[in-house]
Amino acid sequence: MYKQFYGFKENAFNITADPAFYFESTSHKEAYAHLLYGIRNRKGILCLTGEVGTGKTTLCRILLNKIDTNIKTAFILNPSFSPVQLLQLIAKDLGLRTESSNKLDLTHALNNFLLAETSRGHNVVVIIDEAQNLDTRQLEQVRLLSNLETEKNKLLQIILVGQPELLEKLKKTSLRQLNSRISVRYHVRPLSREEIGEYIQHRIRIAGGPAQLQLTAQALDYIYSASNGTPRLINILAEHALLAGFVQETFLINEETIRVCTREALGEEVFS
Ligand SMILES: Nc1ncnc2c1ncn2[C@@H]1O[C@H](COP(=O)(O)OP(=O)(O)OP(=O)(O)O)[C@@H](O)[C@H]1O
Ligand SMILES: [Mg+2]
Repeated sequence: MYKQFYGFKENAFNITADPAFYFESTSHKEAYAHLLYGIRNRKGILCLTGEVGTGKTTLCRILLNKIDTNIKTAFILNPSFSPVQLLQLIAKDLGLRTESSNKLDLTHALNNFLLAETSRGHNVVVIIDEAQNLDTRQLEQVRLLSNLETEKNKLLQIILVGQPELLEKLKKTSLRQLNSRISVRYHVRPLSREEIGEYIQHRIRIAGGPAQLQLTAQALDYIYSASNGTPRLINILAEHALLAGFVQETFLINEETIRVCTREALGEEVFS
């Protein structure tokens, strides 16, 4: 409804990790640079963490879209795999033709593939999202994968992506070997108060919305208090705000509207 009123081509504030809407905040930029550094320098295991909804999956998708063509990638989204299934998923995503369900065969095939890619000067990256859900056995399998190396180089770069619980898991004594091998780490920060306004305008612009559609500074302050700068929460509040703005037939959304939207959307009021 509000789409027509404001002239949007698509929803501006979906909660899917759509890279088309990527906004390069200071922290997202730093995160991307850390990942690229780790990949280019073949650092083996990298770790990207951040609170719920801060943009980790979005960053993975950006990386997959932007990465050089001589870097092969596999993206594991659903971490409910057995050690063999992990190998199968990686092999499939990398385009290896192997139907085997034998761990040794799969490791052998993967190793051959990695050696061939490395000899062509290529690099291979596996991203494992939602890694906070991996159990000790699965994480141990990740460590074994990172053993694939030549005397000089790590053949496979693995990026573990997850919520802060991942860091707690990695501190377990049984996982200290894995933990000590993580040489690049980055924790994504929420958006700052200054970035929230730019983020909202950016998404409105990408979705084809009008430039005169604005939120007052107080409305943005309120969104900041209510969301703590977390993009997913900002999206939820902004979506409600656009609907409310449409009902009021206004192009300027004020604090009172956001206050009501926060109650509706998050079931709470923020006192700041
Ligand atoms: N830098 C960004 N630019 C544009 N949108 C973003 C950005 N970061 C996050 N978002 C938006 O916020 C929402 C949540 O992002 P995403 O799913 O990537 O978070 P996450 O950290 O992977 O969450 P979870 O912890 O639940 O896995 C999505 O709608 C996404 O589009
Ligand atoms: Mg995610």
